[in-house]
Amino acid sequence: MNAAVRAVVRVALTKGITPYAIYEGYQGMVDGGDKIRPLSWEDVGDWLAIGGTEIGTARCQEFRTVEGRLTAVRNLVKSGIDALVICGGDGSLTGADFLRAEWTEFVDKLVKQKRLTEEEAAPYRSQLTIVGLVGSIDNDMAQTDLTIGAMTALQRICEALDSIKSTALSHQRAFVVEVMGRHCGWLGLMAAIACGADWLFLPELPPPIGDEFIASGDWETEMCDILSKERKLGNRKTIVIVCEGAIDRNLKPIKPEYVKDVLTKRLNFDTRVTCLGHVQRGGVPCAYDRYLATVQGAEAVNAVIETTPTTPSPMIGISNNKVIRVPLKNAVAQTKEVAKAIARKDFKRAMELRDPEFNS
Ligand code: F6P
Repeated sequence: MNAAVRAVVRVALTKGITPYAIYEGYQGMVDGGDKIRPLSWEDVGDWLAIGGTEIGTARCQEFRTVEGRLTAVRNLVKSGIDALVICGGDGSLTGADFLRAEWTEFVDKLVKQKRLTEEEAAPYRSQLTIVGLVGSIDNDMAQTDLTIGAMTALQRICEALDSIKSTALSHQRAFVVEVMGRHCGWLGLMAAIACGADWLFLPELPPPIGDEFIASGDWETEMCDILSKERKLGNRKTIVIVCEGAIDRNLKPIKPEYVKDVLTKRLNFDTRVTCLGHVQRGGVPCAYDRYLATVQGAEAVNAVIETTPTTPSPMIGISNNKVIRVPLKNAVAQTKEVAKAIARKDFKRAMELRDPEFNS
């Protein structure tokens, strides 16, 4: 995210726009004061290689209330802000588009409440410009191939799995490793392939392999049969990845401790559970994330300049290696539709929504 802020700040400055940072996310927008400050070229020096976010972030209950958002609008107007570049997941981007929809009505209201003078409000009567950048390790946003942070989180997971493999191979142990990703299996799937894991549990069930077992819901037998065959073929270790949102065919969550019990009881494997937790969300950003955040941050500024009061708010994405703009509302709506399809067990539909070429 720091690379994205750096790019937005520096490209804005070269185009004669004054960039401000809102510290602590929507909380800073509601609090105002020194939480909204201009950023200079120098302020963002060296931010490319720093993990996390230097301007902070926070979950904000007040922003969910009308009064909270009214105060936020007042703070933006008072600071002279008429465009926002938001970097976050579907929740943060929805919040931003919501604010845009309310903007003119809220500016009016603030004048009526005498919290803004006519003079202060006049330059802000037209629409607030919103541009979304997608920052999420989960890579769960529709209409973009990759979200900012996902590649670095994948890198962290792979480093951890490589380390775990040393013990697993030496002691011929089994490890059940839980990875993040909410309802999206991207991190788990990519890590499983990149690190040679032996079994994977996803939130989205894969196309059926071993139909007879899956049809009966008996993943335990299927997993144990395959893992024991692998051991007989000479595999000294067993790595099972459980995505945090993994579910079985009956939509029951699959928990790492349960998988451990199955491996211990049925196969007599010496098994340990490792939950990678927030290790996955930190550390030095990988090269690709720095690149992605930079080219998308630059495009966000172009989008700020080109967005008119009538154009739908854009979200900056990447598709087939090209930076793209798509209507933010559509991308968020499609992301929510995927979650709904998963919730009603329609995994095929969920995969089609994620990847239109899924069937071919
Ligand atoms: O959405 C990103 C994510 O890291 C998920 O993968 C995970 O479920 C969640 O956030 C963790 O959130 P928190 O840091 O609030 O525990």
